[in-house]
Amino acid sequence: MLRKRLSAIMAALLLLSSAGCVQQKDDEVKTVGLAMPSKALERWNRDGEYLKQVFESEGYNVELKYSDNNIDQQINDLQVLIADDVDVLIVAAVDGATLFRTLEDAKIKNIPVIAYDRLILNTDTVDCYISFDNFKVGELQAQFILDSLSPDTSDRPLNIELVSGDTADNNARFFYNGFMSVMEPYLESGRFVIPSNKITFEQTATPQWSTVKAYENMQNTLASYYAGGTPLDAVHCASDCLTVGVTQAIASDYTGKTPVVTGQDGDIAALRDIVEGQQSMTIYKNVRDEANVTVEVAKAILEEEDIDEELIEEFEVPCAFDTDSYDNGVKKVPSYLLTPNVITLENLDLLTEIGPYEWDEDHRYLVEK
Ligand code: BGC
Repeated sequence: MLRKRLSAIMAALLLLSSAGCVQQKDDEVKTVGLAMPSKALERWNRDGEYLKQVFESEGYNVELKYSDNNIDQQINDLQVLIADDVDVLIVAAVDGATLFRTLEDAKIKNIPVIAYDRLILNTDTVDCYISFDNFKVGELQAQFILDSLSPDTSDRPLNIELVSGDTADNNARFFYNGFMSVMEPYLESGRFVIPSNKITFEQTATPQWSTVKAYENMQNTLASYYAGGTPLDAVHCASDCLTVGVTQAIASDYTGKTPVVTGQDGDIAALRDIVEGQQSMTIYKNVRDEANVTVEVAKAILEEEDIDEELIEEFEVPCAFDTDSYDNGVKKVPSYLLTPNVITLENLDLLTEIGPYEWDEDHRYLVEK
């Protein structure tokens, strides 16, 4: 409230001081540059379109770019946005470690940068990070597997395989670490075993979060370690885009009881698989909340307000302000972290309230609203 009142006073002062002068750039409609990783993955399509909508409804111009999951393309997109003199850059990085040089140009032009969902590394040219609690996502996935399979009372050690994300995405390691923080004691005690022996983040990573690669890797794992009838009890998939490939491989190449398989994002195909019993859960991260928080933070930055805990009052959604967890190699980036939701067959309906979904005519599958 106080913040709002102060900005109103400052706006009034600004108006008085500029009365009679040529209109300042500050009074013009501001332009937001949005750089999203790829149109091919459902989640980024949704983020891009929704961010565009909310910024436009708040009176901003928007330049939106999708980079085809290609690092050079994203660098090029950013160069264009910077050359166009956007007022703020919002970037979901294809590869968080490759943008620091390009962002130097943003710094020279005083264009603030918000890292959206994925952290940007090795640069001080990032004002703020907005995401979900990525470590928590991994913890929730692991806890779901434990709750579903009760390893402590099982009459045999349980078999699990891990399918992690792209090493170029800082989030992927957080998902893995969160998962391991819960699962490691069970791997150490032998209650869970990984027959393929692929256990480190690097060993289990999937380049570019590719569905096809996840499918092929799972096929190979099944052929090499499960062909003789070894049961596969669980697969930790970091994201739905991987899960969809993994469940296809399981459906075609594995004849045992369907394993517990995790996911993240609430992709339509994954929600369908949850209804069909091929996928066990997903983590839904409310993209609308993430976009709304981003708008508030961008406004605050453009109005030169402080980026701090107090800003959370403006968000109206549960959110933590974290100044410690996201060290990008040059600085600890102040972060606003939203809370993820666990979605299973039992609470699918919740998505019609909190997400852009509705039931199809037969009330069987969720579809995009
Ligand atoms: C996002 C996830 C998404 C993954 C693959 C991550 O950075 O946080 O929501 O599933 O990228 O696109």
